[in-house]
Amino acid sequence: MKALVIGGGGREHALVWGLSKSKRIKKIFCCPGNGGISGVAECVNIDQNDFNALIDLVRTEWIDITVVGPEIPLSAGIVDAFIRSGHKIIGPTEKAARLEGSKVFAKDFMRAHLIPTAPYKVFTSHIHAREHIRLMGAPIVIKADGLAAGKGVIVADTVEEALSAIDLIMVKRAFGDAGNRILIEECLQGQEVSFMVFTDGRTIVPMPSSQDHKRILDGDRGANTGGMGAYSPTPILTPELQQLAIDKVMRPTIDGLARDGVKYKGFLYAGLMIVDGKPYVLEFNCRFGDPETQPIMMKLDSDFLEILLSLEEERLGDIEIKWKTGSTICVVIASSGYPGNYKKGHIITGLDDIEEDDNLAVFHAGTSYVDGNYVTAGGRVLGVTAYGDNIREARNKAYDAVNKIKFDGMYYRKDIGHMAITL
Ligand code: AMP
Ligand code: GLY
Repeated sequence: MKALVIGGGGREHALVWGLSKSKRIKKIFCCPGNGGISGVAECVNIDQNDFNALIDLVRTEWIDITVVGPEIPLSAGIVDAFIRSGHKIIGPTEKAARLEGSKVFAKDFMRAHLIPTAPYKVFTSHIHAREHIRLMGAPIVIKADGLAAGKGVIVADTVEEALSAIDLIMVKRAFGDAGNRILIEECLQGQEVSFMVFTDGRTIVPMPSSQDHKRILDGDRGANTGGMGAYSPTPILTPELQQLAIDKVMRPTIDGLARDGVKYKGFLYAGLMIVDGKPYVLEFNCRFGDPETQPIMMKLDSDFLEILLSLEEERLGDIEIKWKTGSTICVVIASSGYPGNYKKGHIITGLDDIEEDDNLAVFHAGTSYVDGNYVTAGGRVLGVTAYGDNIREARNKAYDAVNKIKFDGMYYRKDIGHMAITL
């Protein structure tokens, strides 16, 4: 079979890698892909939002199934466009993807279906938003309604910070129309975990829990990033808590959407805050997380293509999905300056000294392949991912490999997965 993966980051490299191990895969395409992905898949430079061009590629290459990485094409209706043209694709429809595309929709949905989440209010006027902040005090959380590349959430420790967040989103319109409406919500204190499931609209199969490290500096300090690393499983999501997350969050979400006439198929990600032993939803993502997918794909011990087919054909309940019993970790290597300005085009060395196998892989996030060299082409450059019998072994293996890689301005956190050891 032939498969197409849409996207071009570390998550997509991990998805391509997972697919490449499938017995029935003959060829993989990736649009647009990146330097590292081009070693496993044919990268075709088509914009992820050009649905007609993507469908043309699927037609001319006789591609059997497509899987979507990023949220923007999902929210713009890529799944609806593929289904209309009779092509198999995995992911939620435009309506189902509103769970991520509109934070106001997600919160109103959770309120209507009694899904635990922080209390909130919606504002369209910056004057009323400011009044509310002065009334509530800090800490408080301000969220732009629409997609803002992970930057639209501000956790304000002081009233001044909260007021400047209003200014940024609603007056300066830093995120454009995504800030036409905002949410102001209570700040929850607790431990954060990422919980993802496969679903065909009826059956729900959990993936192992994971935790990503969003801040740029060790000790979870400094600016928020797209994610500096992740590990799986996390001891924070105990089996009991995982069951609660299915019963109180995932099941009512999938069933609630179905009752509203919307079938949710694909991957559903809940960012959860565990407060006093109970899970609360911080956000929904209608896709695989990045960088959580990197360790999760390495833990998978079943054929990924078969899972995708069972999702598409709505027979997830008929297959068994197995996971390796140890731990996995992904250490992101970034360009210094990220998440602010950084330079591109530095040659990466040392990749050949790493012996990759099913338990050790270097997933490329922002690289190009130029004249026989991999060069940096993004803020997050690589995600070194390793499996071990336990988190300590996985960490050592990943960091040993990280130490072999060199490029000008290379930066990474040294404490990924540390928490799982100290807990
Ligand atoms: P989101 O993009 O909605 O996941 O938000 C980004 C980050 O902001 C989350 O990963 C949390 O660390 C934090 N956050 C979001 N909502 C809340 C909340 N209600 N209380 C505390 N922290 C939050
Ligand atoms: N790692 C968080 C996300 O993918 O949104």
